[in-house]
Amino acid sequence: MALLEVEGASVDYGRGRVLDDVSLSVGEGEIVTVLGANGAGKTTLLRAIAGATRLAAGRVTYDGAPLDGLSIGERLARGIVLVPEGRRILISLTIEENLLVGAHQRRDTAAVRKDIAAIYERFPNLAQRRHMAAWCLSGGEQQMLAIGRAIVARPRLMMLDEPSLGLSPLFVNTLFGLIVELNRGGLTVLLVEQNAGKALAIAHHATVIELGRVVVAGDPRALQADPRLREAYLGQGDDAAAGPIEPILQRGTGV
Ligand SMILES: Nc1ncnc2c1ncn2[C@@H]1O[C@H](COP(=O)(O)OP(=O)(O)OP(=O)(O)O)[C@@H](O)[C@H]1O
Ligand SMILES: [Mg+2]
Repeated sequence: MALLEVEGASVDYGRGRVLDDVSLSVGEGEIVTVLGANGAGKTTLLRAIAGATRLAAGRVTYDGAPLDGLSIGERLARGIVLVPEGRRILISLTIEENLLVGAHQRRDTAAVRKDIAAIYERFPNLAQRRHMAAWCLSGGEQQMLAIGRAIVARPRLMMLDEPSLGLSPLFVNTLFGLIVELNRGGLTVLLVEQNAGKALAIAHHATVIELGRVVVAGDPRALQADPRLREAYLGQGDDAAAGPIEPILQRGTGV
């Protein structure tokens, strides 16, 4: 049974239907990627799963139970965390305060401290600046902080909304290496990307949406190999040739 099952999900904004009968399934331990152009409905889909947007039709089942009517906080408590588009860290708070925000639902203070220590070990740039305001971080460091904050929530399903947006190619490789590493540690990942080449390279399944509808779904390698599909749905954002993806950050444990 899949960890996450989205069936016929539809969302209306005002008079328009922006998500239309979208279905996808994410197995435990998988990386599933959702690709699509600007305005396709990718963020809307993730927000619907996280509980930030209401479904007009369809349903989302997680760990065998429907999520209908559950708030964002209740879904978070079940292990569903969203790293939102544009990072949305709290720039006037310190790095450490941002990480503590990720742990706000947890009561196991000692374990939270350990998880934060593991994040500092993994991201020395964050450790050095732990008491500085988050606005002093680079874009890439802010993305790592956003992911670190999500890790501190101890998720089972991490959803990432265009995490590579605006990052340098080197940092994009670091980021994708981190996603692979977290996944190997047991985390299930639902990854929205416009960087199709990189996302397809690490995903177990891919779904392409266009104007709110699923247009292709299946094996990422088949999608990558079919020039017609690549041209039709994945545009020119494909930079798979930019270098191999390797887990670069090896030291962290237990997160
Ligand atoms: N709060 C809102 N109110 C009205 N329309 C919205 C709202 N949020 C999104 N939309 C519309 O819904 C559609 C899908 O938006 P969504 O943000 O899900 O797309 P996306 O695939 O994430 O795009 P991008 O790649 O640019 O982030 C777009 O046409 C957008 O204008
Ligand atoms: Mg979006």
